Amino acid sequence: MKSLISILDLSTDEILELISTANDIIANPDKYREACRYKKLATLFFEPSTRTRLSFEAAMLELGGSVLGFSEANSSSAAKGESVADTAKTVSCYADIIAMRHFKEGAPYVAAQNATIPVINAGDGGHNHPTQTLADLLTIYREKGGFENITIGFCGDLKFGRTVHSLIQALSRYSGLNVVLISPVELKLPSYIKKDILKENKIPYTQTTSLEEAIPDLDILYMTRVQRERFFNEEDYLRLKDSYILDPPKLKNAKSDLAIMHPLPRVNEISTAIDSDPRACYFKQVLNGKYIRMALILKLLQEAAK
Ligand code: NCD
Repeated sequence: MKSLISILDLSTDEILELISTANDIIANPDKYREACRYKKLATLFFEPSTRTRLSFEAAMLELGGSVLGFSEANSSSAAKGESVADTAKTVSCYADIIAMRHFKEGAPYVAAQNATIPVINAGDGGHNHPTQTLADLLTIYREKGGFENITIGFCGDLKFGRTVHSLIQALSRYSGLNVVLISPVELKLPSYIKKDILKENKIPYTQTTSLEEAIPDLDILYMTRVQRERFFNEEDYLRLKDSYILDPPKLKNAKSDLAIMHPLPRVNEISTAIDSDPRACYFKQVLNGKYIRMALILKLLQEAAK
């Protein structure tokens, strides 16, 4: 694997290897402080981000490397009409590895075809977000001890939520998975994911509009934000944005070891009163995201040096 575009570019063994490196980084941070000395990460962000970009930058700095890049399309040559392919070729002359976020589905793939250094997809439109999935997988592994026999509920914008799409792809490879899809009718999971991933792998799934009814069965509840920037009209967004708000009364019948996850940013989907509940895992996900990105940068740079 030279680049990471989709979570399915990683085998299940490679995912376990990344999780084990991340756990080792958490246990022995000093061992890794110089691991990427003199190496440079370019963060090419054509779409806004707080967590993902800063997480990549913090990851590289904690490995002893340095970072360069931009955080909005307007401040890059894309504003002059440069193609993603040319940007990738150019940045290959300056850096050792690229993390790219783009509003266009497939842009990081095009970059990877043209760059001479590894490219990591840091989110492409409503499509994929494999490094958020790695953060989610590390969190599930640390909270649940593995990926087998899990009932997971995805709640909110399952249509445009790229983190949901990538996580379903990743979990589909483990046995005993049960999926509960909780969304307004207008924001249901795209049928290509139901067909190519859930049905193809014979994964049992149910669809509902009721969070309350779904909660008691869940081991993991993965909440998501309604993706305003991908809506065609503001009226629909305003009508759907507060479809689900997780608050303490809704958790009344939840399992005592439920893991509540959210890729963040949160808008209203989770009341802040839940933050102090021991089942809230979303800020752990943020921290885990930095460690797993450290593991990924290390692995891709080691492979590129071979
Ligand atoms: C997610 C994303 O960018 O898709 N955020 C993130 O990377 N943590 C989720 C979101 O924006 O809703």
